Amino acid sequence: MTVKYLEDLSTLVSLCKRRGFIFQSSEIYGGLNSCWDYGPLGANFKFKVKMSWWKAMTRRQDIVGLDASILMHPTVWKASGHIDGFSDPMVDCKKCRNRFRADTELVNGKVTCPKCQSTDVTEARNFNLMFKTFMGPVEDSSAVVYLRPETAQGIFVNFENVATSMRKKIPFGIAQIGKSFRNEITPGNFTFRTREFEQMEMQYFVKPGTDVEWFEKWKNERRAFFTRLGFKEDKLRFKPHDKLAHYARAAVDVEYQFPFGWNEIEGIHNRSDFDLTQHQQFSGKKLEYFDEANKEKYIPYVIETAVGCDRLALAMLCDVYREEVSPPAEGEASGDVRVVMGFKPEFAPVQIAFLPLSKKPPLQEIGNKLRDDFALDMDADYDETGSIGKRYRRQDEIGTPLCVTIDFETLEDKKVTVRHRDKMSQDRVAIDQLKNYVQDKLRDF
Ligand code: GAP
Repeated sequence: MTVKYLEDLSTLVSLCKRRGFIFQSSEIYGGLNSCWDYGPLGANFKFKVKMSWWKAMTRRQDIVGLDASILMHPTVWKASGHIDGFSDPMVDCKKCRNRFRADTELVNGKVTCPKCQSTDVTEARNFNLMFKTFMGPVEDSSAVVYLRPETAQGIFVNFENVATSMRKKIPFGIAQIGKSFRNEITPGNFTFRTREFEQMEMQYFVKPGTDVEWFEKWKNERRAFFTRLGFKEDKLRFKPHDKLAHYARAAVDVEYQFPFGWNEIEGIHNRSDFDLTQHQQFSGKKLEYFDEANKEKYIPYVIETAVGCDRLALAMLCDVYREEVSPPAEGEASGDVRVVMGFKPEFAPVQIAFLPLSKKPPLQEIGNKLRDDFALDMDADYDETGSIGKRYRRQDEIGTPLCVTIDFETLEDKKVTVRHRDKMSQDRVAIDQLKNYVQDKLRDF
């Protein structure tokens, strides 16, 4: 048997649609470009990705959570620099009218249309990526608000509230998961670059002078997190930025090797005291921290870890996809292909599936009862349609670690057969021992 990993994103896109992970938004109306809906399995998987990040962050004594609103006071975006500087250079191709980003389409130093390869393009003009809307019934300039382009600012403007209400002493962090919006000029690659996406950001406030040390610590923490997620080692790398943003003292990208190349999934940044200083200036509110032990006042520095939830989920989906190809049987041109989403059990949208071998009521009853019982502790499914071979394949394709079949012998010996997704081994297990057996297997998967 040979194993093939994901080579082409379209293979994953079709699996995601076929198996209820991700659908095109508003599909029945022809779809809305760059917007995607997570189906039942995708929503559950994404929720698990978020929970693993949330737990890694907020179960630490030095980090607390936050859920700030998407709409914020417009001056926030003046202070943060987004109104003046959050833009990409946009050009139009004079030949085919394609509109694209000038900075990402350079060939031998010349801006080149990615569609028709023409270098005859308009002058680049800055296009602000923030979505604008109006608050209240009057649509004039005084009512303009923005959909946040990052969750971070909700954390900065709540620094004082959180520190005071939670009696937090520096160093401490604030973590948040939420939607962000960017009117990207060239979205694409499935859920990789979209105009509406979810971010998981953590801002860690430290004493100036300790920022370099904390930046290193956070790089290590995040490396450990990605290792725990189970990524293939050679598919992930930490890449320092060549060019730093105006506020940053250091920055590194966590990159994953997608089928379309190495790309960022997370940024780790030393943002200095830029953000709190700006908000102090624009709001007129003091955002200094008073260090009681040393009797000193300062504006904290911020180490930020910012990961896109959808991008991380996409990287995980790419990483676990595999095809197991059997040698062709005699007289056959090609071998059988088993598609497996090799999720770690904690991320699998379904952890256990109960599959009665026949639709006869006594077997259905045992299967449903077991499903309901297991569903108290994990994601459990029940499936009685199609041949058992087809049902196994369906569960393999959605990454279910364990399948339990109930057969006529079960009625006699009170045992069921448990099949392991990866080893494809089968064990006969007494129903009254099943919970312990499953817990052990999932733990040691
Ligand atoms: N507060 C810092 C910040 O927002 P960023 O590098 O612009 O930093 C952080 O964004 C992460 O958010 C990225 O690494 C990426 O995973 C995700 N992200 C950014 N833009 C995105 C988009 N258009 N679609 C999907 N994810 C995006």
